[in-house]
Amino acid sequence: MLNIKDIAAFDNLRTPFYYYDMDLLRKTVEHVASISRKYGIHVHYAIKANVCKPILETISAAGFGADAVSGEEVVHAVSCGFPGSEVMFAGVGKSDREIRAALDCGVGCFNVESLQELEVIAEIAAQLHKTAPVAIRVNPNIDAHTHKYITTGLNENKFGLLESDLPKAAELIKSKPSLEFKGLQLHIGSQITDVDSVFELECQRVNEIVENFEKTGLKVTNIDLGGGLGIDYDDPDGNPVADFETWMSVINRTLKLREDQTVHVEPGRSIVAQCGNLIARVLYVKPGTTKTFVILDAGMNDLIRPALYGAYHKIENLSAHYLRNDEDKECAYDIVGPVCESSDVWGEGRILRESRRGDFVALRSAGAYGQVMASRYNLHEFAPAVYSDEL
Ligand code: LLP
Repeated sequence: MLNIKDIAAFDNLRTPFYYYDMDLLRKTVEHVASISRKYGIHVHYAIKANVCKPILETISAAGFGADAVSGEEVVHAVSCGFPGSEVMFAGVGKSDREIRAALDCGVGCFNVESLQELEVIAEIAAQLHKTAPVAIRVNPNIDAHTHKYITTGLNENKFGLLESDLPKAAELIKSKPSLEFKGLQLHIGSQITDVDSVFELECQRVNEIVENFEKTGLKVTNIDLGGGLGIDYDDPDGNPVADFETWMSVINRTLKLREDQTVHVEPGRSIVAQCGNLIARVLYVKPGTTKTFVILDAGMNDLIRPALYGAYHKIENLSAHYLRNDEDKECAYDIVGPVCESSDVWGEGRILRESRRGDFVALRSAGAYGQVMASRYNLHEFAPAVYSDEL
């Protein structure tokens, strides 16, 4: 059950809202900092997962860098305390305006995703009399065994350069004085739970790719393995902190590193998912012929993951637990949102404590790719953020 200091504090708040457990965030960040220090791995938080300022400031204070995928994210990361030199800028469609903004921020590295993009960055940097640090994103053709919408490392995905294009990329970089070569980057997918085998495979592929690439004469000093570490959506209380130890120890034992090389990772979800919860109220309990619907005031506009990916989020009735404590009364419900779409469903046949109009309900593990992917569909207001420190 979501551990909240005082559910009474929710009474005055308009629902739905995102509730962030800042103690859990700090605990997670400290854990990541200690494991990454142990293995000498540089962490760049993928800010696309959650861009709330207090969250970013907590993460940047730990000394991590950031991974950004738009010019706006680069600027936002810097304004939240990440040094420009520790911000990576990835993405298949960087516009000229975004490239300029990133150069102005002194971005640490452009993770370049096509040969044409390399030429454009070189040209813009030369016009601005700057040198652009670049790494090449390689598509390693590895199956991350995750949802097809969040698999990024297969040849048919739009991301990165094919290995066969790497020699051309190297020649291009050597011919452009406005480019400074940093290294190689990969990202094979997200919510990877097969941590040992998938990341071991990724590291083995990287060993081969780096060895081949260096035949071009360019030295790979930065090796960036991307993000992707999965979290436990089924049991957020049992596993509130993701398995960073397994992830980083696999990297440590599999990647062949020279003294002059550094390893970087870009976790997003695994740092912020479990500290966030979408808090809604029950609007109506509506009996059907064979099932009963619990209709919440939060919908797919607030958290699109179930509708978009069929994603599972654990659902809990906080009022039944904390206020009534009627443990034995459980019912099966179809839990839905208010939006006029049949896919606006939180869960079918979910067992929940008996629910009543006005009850507070928590949709767990919503800190990553929740608030950032919200929309104002049906003109619902954006659900605001509430931080545990403020209650
Ligand atoms: N680096 C790159 C280049 C990425 O594309 C991503 C995520 C990450 C790092 C961070 O991956 P993470 O550690 O969070 O798995 N909206 C989807 C997830 C999309 C992930 C996109 N890229 C979801 O809600 O599951």
